[in-house]
Amino acid sequence: MYNRACGACHAGQLPNAPQKGDKAAWAPRLAQGMETLVQHVTQGFKAMPPRGLCMECSAEDYRVIILWMSE
Ligand code: HEC
Repeated sequence: MYNRACGACHAGQLPNAPQKGDKAAWAPRLAQGMETLVQHVTQGFKAMPPRGLCMECSAEDYRVIILWMSE
């Protein structure tokens, strides 16, 4: 799912999008709480389109992908 959707922006293509493994970029985002992050992906957030372009992703999928991206 990451490769098909999130990876299109979160692998360095968009400078504002925190990259996989970039702990420093993820720390302040994670500090907002996982529920807020999942909500931001679902509704869209600044340059990120709603659902992060993953129409079939569930809230649980987002949680797993976010944790994985932030490691
Ligand atoms: C079209 C590009 C794009 C796609 C696709 C995308 N993102 Fe993002 N995402 C962004 C950008 C840009 C930001 C940074 C927004 C900002 O803070 O300016 C961001 C930020 C985030 C954040 C942090 C939000 C916050 O509140 O700080 C999370 C979490 C996130 N993305 C998860 C995902 C997940 C999960 C997917 C795949 C399902 C995804 N993104 C797909 C562009 C994208």
